[in-house]
Amino acid sequence: MAEFKEVPADAPVTQKVTVWFENRFPTAFAEYKKHMSEYYAPKNFNMWYFFGSLALLVLVIQIVTGIFLVMHYKPDANLAFASVEYIMRDVPWGWLVRYMHSTGASAFFVVVYLHMFRGMMYGSYRKPRELVWIFGCAIFLCLMAEAFFGYLLPWGQMSYWGAQVIVNLFAAVPFIGPDLALLIRGDFVVGDATLNRFFSFHVIAVPLVLIGLVVAHLLALHDVGSNNPDGVEIKANKDPKTGIPLDGIPFHPYYTVHDLMGVGVFLMIFSAIVFFAPEVGGYFLEANNFIPADPLKTPLHIAPVWYFTPFYSMLRATTDVMVTVFSIFVALGGVGALLLLKGKLKIAGAVGAVVAIAALQIFDAKFWGVVVMGGAVIILFFLPWLDHSPVKSIRYRPNWHKWLYGVFVVYFFVLGYLGIEPPSPLFTLLAQIGTVFYFAFFLLMPVWSRMGEFKRVPDRVTFHAH
Ligand code: HEM
Repeated sequence: MAEFKEVPADAPVTQKVTVWFENRFPTAFAEYKKHMSEYYAPKNFNMWYFFGSLALLVLVIQIVTGIFLVMHYKPDANLAFASVEYIMRDVPWGWLVRYMHSTGASAFFVVVYLHMFRGMMYGSYRKPRELVWIFGCAIFLCLMAEAFFGYLLPWGQMSYWGAQVIVNLFAAVPFIGPDLALLIRGDFVVGDATLNRFFSFHVIAVPLVLIGLVVAHLLALHDVGSNNPDGVEIKANKDPKTGIPLDGIPFHPYYTVHDLMGVGVFLMIFSAIVFFAPEVGGYFLEANNFIPADPLKTPLHIAPVWYFTPFYSMLRATTDVMVTVFSIFVALGGVGALLLLKGKLKIAGAVGAVVAIAALQIFDAKFWGVVVMGGAVIILFFLPWLDHSPVKSIRYRPNWHKWLYGVFVVYFFVLGYLGIEPPSPLFTLLAQIGTVFYFAFFLLMPVWSRMGEFKRVPDRVTFHAH
């Protein structure tokens, strides 16, 4: 047991109380120091560094509002829709709690997409932060599952038919598909059993995993230390006497105050939406979801909520024609292997291409659509090993890299837009180009990320006081 600290008899009461606790719970104090007052973060963080703490804030908002919603919500196919209306009209402040939760869902994705993009810009996924990134990607997957399960709960038309479409996708998996879809639904159509299991996943299973992953994400980050907009490792320059990084400042109070500014701006925007436009023109809450679920009436146009649409677009872009185009690419790759490679690699390349073409032709386009949609998320896990650039931060990369990132972002938005709209031949073509670009961006990264003229990375972080 650690030594008990003594307090002078005339010490202030606050000090006495603090030391009383510290003597009985030293771990809490040691952890506070390790993660807050003695966690040295680079002094050059900019506004992009707001989004981690904002994601934490939204997580708390979702959990707290979720707890109050569960007090009044009924996970029963006959009662669910009416219980949500009851929350909106009769439960005191129920409308506020529900709108905070529905706006929070979209806010979560806005904040997390910006947080991920910051990581991509500054190379925060590179060594030694690969695990921080991987935990982040797992969080993103959980967040998608959480949003999907939650969306069924109001039991509106969009909840019902959205779930129907997505669960049916699992039926496209070869051999086990139909049984898998049945297992997920718990019935032959989306019904009460589906609602019950989605409720259970939404309120307890996924949140538990999510919270565990967020803790792992932060512990892993604090073990290796934060990256920064220059991509310079501050641990490489420590004060020889104290061992503290010369470019580091304590997280508390400097970044707690810095983050408070982000929280202020965020809450202003969040409140404006909650109080004045909670549906955001049908993007946060869709009009069709104010109609109770009707298994006999399919809505004319079914689209997921905006945060899923870039990936949904890729699913729809994978038509038979697209699969043929993929097959041609694979065939070209096989011919390339035969011409350029030698020995075992040559044989492996050619055989691999034949097997891949056979698989592309045997299974239908719907299945490959699911593979493409899933692959678009899974590929993010591999980013630390795809990027071979000699520098971390975009600041010191060739200018055309910045343009490439710009096109990537624009195309992500375009895919998002296309996923909301009903398909048309032009839109499908655009989505196909976007899908090819998305995958080419990542798969060719080992090649393009080392090309061009890189700027010299400074030894110490660059910082201009405002
Ligand atoms: C619930 C969701 C999440 C929460 C609460 C969260 C929280 C945080 C916090 C508090 C930080 C430190 C502050 C900061 O750098 O902004 C951080 C850093 C980081 N996060 Fe997340 N995060 C989440 C999701 C993600 C996702 C989805 C990814 C990527 C796929 C990700 C990747 C990273 C990386 C790479 C860093 C280190 C950044 C650096 O040091 O430059 N995070 N996260």
